[in-house]
Amino acid sequence: MTQNLADTSRPAADATAHEAGAGASRGWWRDAVIYQVYPRSFADSNGDGMGDLPGIRSRLPYLRDLGVDAVWLSPFYASPQADAGYDVADYRAVDPMFGTLLDADALIRDAHALGLRIIVDLVPNHSSDQHEWFQRALREGPASPLRDRYHFRPGKGENGELPPNDWESIFGGPAWTRSENPDGTPGDWYLHLFAPEQPDFNWENPAVADEFRSILRFWLDMGVDGFRIDVAHGLVKAPGLPDIGGGDQLKLLGNDVMPFFDQDGVHEIYRSWRKILDEYPGQRIGVAEAWTPTVQRTANYVRPDELHQAFNFQYLGTSWEAAELRGVIDLSLDSMRPVDAPTTWVLSNHDVTRHATRFANEPGLGTQIRTPGDRGLGLRRARAATLLMLALPGSAYLYQGEELGLPDVTDLPDEVRQDPSFFRQAGQDGYRDGCRVPIPWSGTEAPYGFGPTAGGPSWLPQPAEWAELSVEAQTGDPTSTLELYRSALAVRREQADLGAGTEVEWLDSPAGTLAFRRGSFVCTVNTTAEPVRIPAPGRLLLSSADAVVDGGETVLAPDSTDWWAV
Ligand code: GLC
Ligand code: CA
Repeated sequence: MTQNLADTSRPAADATAHEAGAGASRGWWRDAVIYQVYPRSFADSNGDGMGDLPGIRSRLPYLRDLGVDAVWLSPFYASPQADAGYDVADYRAVDPMFGTLLDADALIRDAHALGLRIIVDLVPNHSSDQHEWFQRALREGPASPLRDRYHFRPGKGENGELPPNDWESIFGGPAWTRSENPDGTPGDWYLHLFAPEQPDFNWENPAVADEFRSILRFWLDMGVDGFRIDVAHGLVKAPGLPDIGGGDQLKLLGNDVMPFFDQDGVHEIYRSWRKILDEYPGQRIGVAEAWTPTVQRTANYVRPDELHQAFNFQYLGTSWEAAELRGVIDLSLDSMRPVDAPTTWVLSNHDVTRHATRFANEPGLGTQIRTPGDRGLGLRRARAATLLMLALPGSAYLYQGEELGLPDVTDLPDEVRQDPSFFRQAGQDGYRDGCRVPIPWSGTEAPYGFGPTAGGPSWLPQPAEWAELSVEAQTGDPTSTLELYRSALAVRREQADLGAGTEVEWLDSPAGTLAFRRGSFVCTVNTTAEPVRIPAPGRLLLSSADAVVDGGETVLAPDSTDWWAV
């Protein structure tokens, strides 16, 4: 194993050292590695089985030592948790299960002291049905002015018993639920693109826009460095809410223009937000979770006067195959160049099967996989895919636990599942709990240091094998995935040519492999099941497997990535 050649030690709070790198003068975020924390599942400080802000705070030194630049926190706001916190009842409050605003403040301060930036999740497409506005809109009945902040409509049919249009919820079933009038009679319907507990805001109403500008300022004043914007493509709906004209609409998502997604009107919202972000010192950023039909449409969200980054879901959806990877890398870089935005790269998040399990299965199964597949193969490919991702120009997103090589938990019993789309017919992604299982830190008994007491609870059960995958078990083992991530992030900090810029120079390489140069750095990738012998490009820096350098030649191991100094 050569993965430990790099010196992983680095001084605390050296964000500025990294900022001196090539991308830095143009913005810290252009080549940042951003680590997603899913608060429910990261660290539980009080032993109630649910992760919380003090837990995250206590583990910040781990993230600093891992070598990431910023931490994105999935929602921790006051919420009935109908969609694990993506149903917000109060955008300015911390849910008691996660802690208090004081805990959030302390977390932000501690992170900054360690040189880590903090990005929070903003959920502007919909609120919780327990949000005060929605509750009042229901209580006050059809005449309530608050109704116009959501999409209430009379039903069709003789007695209004049919939904106002044919839209389907992303989580399955109709996108409309009928409300009850204050006198108990059936009333108007309201729109929810996701669960019924997540009514969509009406962004044509100026009070909604005002409220979100104020929420942005609230968190910016708290010191956050940016926002990940949930369902950024969904806020504006086509005028008149026209029918789509057919069922099975989930299949159309991401390919066709839908009347509720990627409407041009969303861009005005992001232009107004950009002005607010720019009023604050220290380069605060906005990151779009935007599913659009083409990468060019995604680039619209990151024009110079809009947001800073958009997730690259095309990359996430690409199989472990050299030609396909090269194609999507070129496409991603080409699409962002005209708008001068960095490309982002992501392999895992809280909505999709972890990449160690995706790559363990045959390609084409999508992002909700329920079979473990060939675990060894999945892990080899996952390690290689990560080294490839971290060698590309732009910003990379890591999802908690991928640095431990965690697989998805594909055999969770139905009784423990909490994903709301699991409980709705024909939802597209009812199996997201498999990537949300609390991560193992130490010890031999569940919850493996996730909570303070051995034998204590965790909101989803952890597999017995996870003892071997804990941070403690992997630390210091040069063959471990954790040490591979640590080494890779350390090399990325030292080598300004990684991350920076927008170009990769492809080098000739045999079929099924990739080789590209970035300044004084070369990355080689073998996506085949066979070893491949090539001339050694330079001095080996890091290998996801056992690269053998023999004279002037090297043998690229099956399903591996190697980094070279040239
Ligand atoms: C985003 C989130 C997902 C959530 C949905 C509705 O896609 O990532 O977890 O369920 O929005 O808010
Ligand atoms: Ca807790």
